[in-house]
Amino acid sequence: MAFELIRISNLRNLQECEISPDKGINLFLGNNGSGKTSVLEAIYILGRGRSFRDNQLINVVSKGQSSFTVYGKKRNKAERTEIGINCSHLGCQVRLNGQKVYKLSQIARETPIQIITPRSHEIVDTGSSIRRRFIEWGVFHVEHQYQYYSSRYQRALTQRNRALKENPVLAKVWDREIVESGDRVDQLRKAYFLALNQEFKIQLDNLASVLRPDIGFYQGWPKEKTFEESLEESFEGDKIRQHTRFGPHRADVTFRIGKTPLGKWGSRGELKIVIYALFLAQANIIKNHIESFPILLVDDFSVELDGINAEKILSNLSDHAGQVFLTTSNSHRLLTRQSVKLFHVEQGEIKDLSV
Ligand SMILES: Nc1ncnc2c1ncn2[C@@H]1O[C@H](COP(=O)(O)OP(=O)(O)OP(=O)(O)O)[C@@H](O)[C@H]1O
Ligand SMILES: [Mg+2]
Repeated sequence: MAFELIRISNLRNLQECEISPDKGINLFLGNNGSGKTSVLEAIYILGRGRSFRDNQLINVVSKGQSSFTVYGKKRNKAERTEIGINCSHLGCQVRLNGQKVYKLSQIARETPIQIITPRSHEIVDTGSSIRRRFIEWGVFHVEHQYQYYSSRYQRALTQRNRALKENPVLAKVWDREIVESGDRVDQLRKAYFLALNQEFKIQLDNLASVLRPDIGFYQGWPKEKTFEESLEESFEGDKIRQHTRFGPHRADVTFRIGKTPLGKWGSRGELKIVIYALFLAQANIIKNHIESFPILLVDDFSVELDGINAEKILSNLSDHAGQVFLTTSNSHRLLTRQSVKLFHVEQGEIKDLSV
């Protein structure tokens, strides 16, 4: 499903904007500070109900205004969907096809959306939580039961950790629930990871990546033990540390070239190609499940890419067959491509260059 109309008001420096994007690649071109990333932020909010660059949506409201609104209309063959989000200091109101939505997961399921930014290399060279979130987002979209087990696990884990701090005797009460939900979370993640690993190799080939990293999955406890055994054996240590040290909440994905972590090996440009392969792999898996490609946002597209790699990625994004929104402040080469719909962003105004 692709957005055919997007309206943005009072979001950062974008006052009143309306765009009719193409269902393929859309490129937003403009100088620094013109509002390009803000356009992607608006689209991201439509899909996720939150921003990718600020934990507080109130900061996204244009200075001097009291609220921002983003509206999107999507179409897939005969099916139409409308999403509207209005946020002020009183909170956010979300509407899906005119109906109030109370759970963000509802709009998240409606519009799978991913973003690649110049900071996306962090997925391979910083802490594990970003990688876990990446995997969780994919499993959430392909396995509908995942959210149920994951919430159960999180609840039980919170209670167990509280008990470990306040009254350790009660901590074990939660073990059964933790093991039952945690094992399901783990199984669903592993199945997803297998598919991701396969598709990742295909995408590395498609992008002719120089680097061929191996990716591995760490379940969150030693692999020779069951989760139940691990929980049991680590109980005394958990009591001392006052938290649960092993479990799916500690899962991670490793990226390695031989024995070296990928982040310590690859150049910035090489890493970027690997990141694209990873995101495109995820997009393809989701497409196979929901028969629609996720929407892909790419901020500062050409940063760290030479001309050849930029072309290669662009042609793979075209093949990806989903809706893509790119931003760049220097795109002389890309301007010549017929398959890209161009928008110019200047001081918060968006001009469609195709009309
Ligand atoms: N809450 C806000 N209200 C009004 N303007 C804001 C707000 N937050 C940020 N801005 C301004 O909005 C403008 C657009 O920012 P944005 O990050 O979208 O620019 P950009 O085109 O992506 O620039 P760059 O090429 O440097 O990445 C900037 O001038 C920024 O200072
Ligand atoms: Mg920007």
